[in-house]
Amino acid sequence: MLKMAKWIYRISLFITFLFICIFGFYVSIGNSQQEQAIPLQILPKDNAGNVDWVKALRQGVIKPLDALDPKKPPTPVIDLDIVFKVKGDLPDVVYPHYPHTQWLACNNCHPKIFIMQAGANKISMKKIEEGQFCGRCHGVVAFPLSNCTRCHSKPKR
Ligand code: HEC
Ligand code: HEC
Ligand code: HEC
Repeated sequence: MLKMAKWIYRISLFITFLFICIFGFYVSIGNSQQEQAIPLQILPKDNAGNVDWVKALRQGVIKPLDALDPKKPPTPVIDLDIVFKVKGDLPDVVYPHYPHTQWLACNNCHPKIFIMQAGANKISMKKIEEGQFCGRCHGVVAFPLSNCTRCHSKPKR
């Protein structure tokens, strides 16, 4: 009787040991995935030296998930440039839908930030600097307003 109890004790000790090993293995796998975070140096930079996320996506350096839920259908992408004519010598502004819709769904902007019609929004640089329109994201989560030529990208001649 005592002998059997000893064996049961040994076997349960062994099973516990096995579980600890498996658990440790999973934890170490988890950590090694964390170490694979992309080093900043390999990300492409824009003309101002900030990370160019649009280029990083295009080059395939990063592959962000569309949504946390893999069953959710991907958000639509459209290739539509909107040109904002600017008075004076400053280059006109080109707003490209393509890279934006790679990151964002339509309803991130329409209709709350921008009415879905070219020329329908009374946009000005002052309002952008105050955090409206493009300034809702640029200077906050997207490249900063100090980089004039990334938006004012269409020279007059
Ligand atoms: C990051 C913001 C943003 C997102 C996201 C976005 N748009 Fe727009 N959209 C704009 C801006 C800015 C304009 C121009 C508004 C203006 O000229 O006043 C515009 C204009 C439009 C227009 C009017 C074009 C015209 O010639 O009148 C359509 C149509 C449109 N968007 C469709 C879409 C669709 C469809 C999606 C999603 C696939 C989308 N947009 C996502 C910012 C956005
Ligand atoms: C809802 C957020 C949001 C709004 C509003 C928004 N953008 Fe962006 N924009 C982004 C993000 C995110 C990126 C990609 C990350 C980055 O480049 O910093 C981007 C990138 C860009 C790029 C780089 C495209 C490329 O090919 O390199 C341009 C140009 C641009 N935006 C112009 C504009 C203009 C002009 C407006 C206003 C008419 C505007 N954006 C409004 C979020 C926004
Ligand atoms: C995120 C994109 C973006 C950036 C960055 C940006 N602008 Fe603009 N800018 C615009 C848009 C959009 C307009 C509105 C065009 C219109 O009048 O319809 C505009 C308009 C202007 C105008 C016309 C007058 C006015 O106030 O509306 C001037 C001048 C101007 N910007 C100067 C600058 C300067 C200087 C910088 C850099 C310090 C800069 N912008 C950076 C998007 C941008």
